[in-house]
Amino acid sequence: MVVIDGKALAAKMQGRLAEKTASLQAETGQIPGLVVILVGENPASQVYVRNKERSALAAGFHSQVVRLPESTSEAELLDVIAQYNADNNWHGILVQLPLPAHIDEEKVLLAIAPEKDVDGFHPMNMGKLWSGHAVMVPSTPAGIMEMFREYQIDLAGKTAVVIGRSNIVGKPMAQLLLDANATVTIAHSRTKNLAEVVKQADILVVAIGRAKFVTKEFVKEGAVVIDVGMNRDENGKLCGDVDFAQVSEVASHITPVPGGVGPMTITMLMEQTYQACKRSLKK
Ligand code: GUN
Repeated sequence: MVVIDGKALAAKMQGRLAEKTASLQAETGQIPGLVVILVGENPASQVYVRNKERSALAAGFHSQVVRLPESTSEAELLDVIAQYNADNNWHGILVQLPLPAHIDEEKVLLAIAPEKDVDGFHPMNMGKLWSGHAVMVPSTPAGIMEMFREYQIDLAGKTAVVIGRSNIVGKPMAQLLLDANATVTIAHSRTKNLAEVVKQADILVVAIGRAKFVTKEFVKEGAVVIDVGMNRDENGKLCGDVDFAQVSEVASHITPVPGGVGPMTITMLMEQTYQACKRSLKK
């Protein structure tokens, strides 16, 4: 059984990215710029945003975090986005989710210039991904694909099951697996006979947000198990959607929580920002 070390792979990619960034600057004078907009004081979001800033600075990027109060109106937020859309020094714009309830998330995501939408959440980028012309790919599934590459996990012809159907993880993950010639099922909370469906999986990606939901009984012997969950267990300890102790007895590969998918997500966001910067130079 192999524990997929997302932390190590992310560190390796961050190192490479810092080198690429230095070369880009030497050759063109350009430095990738990432702005992260955070509305309100959601504690988890604050941690994510701090980590994104740290990672951007480590890569040698310009980094800015715009912290707006919970009371910010939708119009004010749209104004801030418009400013960064128009400013060529910023190549990536990310609005941290979730937004306060009085702000329409769809409207906000639509307002981000698609070429700066490093999250890949704009309908234009989602549409491009689904039609096989991906430009910006959501970071979590993109990071998972990097893990498959690094560990030489062949996806062609395999049965893949994704549990979870969010726009951020489940749906783009399914599309990327399909692009890699897997046979893909998207399962979710309303799936009948979930355990039976999941048991078919050679490749299992779990993103349902329920602590230790996937136990040994769900998992086929030799399956590759990717855990996107980030929960607290009964003792307040960080844990995934997969019961690691149990499932590691049957899986061929498994990602831990923490140290699996999480670090890769942030690194891929930086990679997308770097790519967005490079594309902006070609115009
Ligand atoms: N909230 C939870 N995950 C994400 C993410 O990947 N991007 C943004 N912008 N917000 C999130």
